[in-house]
Amino acid sequence: MSERTLVLVKPDGVARGLVGEVVSRIERKGLRLAALELRVVTRDLAEQHYAEHDGKPFFGSLLDFITSGPVVALVVEGPRAIPAFRQLAGGTDPVEKATPGTLRGDFALETESNLVHGSDSPESAEREIKLWFPNI
Ligand code: CMP
Repeated sequence: MSERTLVLVKPDGVARGLVGEVVSRIERKGLRLAALELRVVTRDLAEQHYAEHDGKPFFGSLLDFITSGPVVALVVEGPRAIPAFRQLAGGTDPVEKATPGTLRGDFALETESNLVHGSDSPESAEREIKLWFPNI
């Protein structure tokens, strides 16, 4: 059964020219692109996207980071797309958790500027896709 997930190439990934690398790995895995857009993230969108982290010590810094430059937002679909993309991304901490061969393991050093975001559950995916792409 096919499912959809919301993927972001974060400002660090766009600034470093790694959009093609991320898209290439998604496509080589066999997942499909259902939407792709370069977006400037407003504070309001960032707050809604990361609402579950409101109150955490890194929340303000995370909002500053995600609004610091354009991101590329994608809807990615395929069988088990949510865990499949999270496997491609690697763990949140690019050094302690993400292993070499994953996007974060290969291309990131910091837990905040960790290159990509992927929805963590079917409920999050539904909420995030509606938030970023209300018309699809
Ligand atoms: P993401 O998968 O987009 O989900 C929440 C984001 O918050 C995460 O990736 C990181 O960018 C950031 N984050 C999570 N934990 C920390 C932390 N301890 N310190 C700084 N940023 C964090």
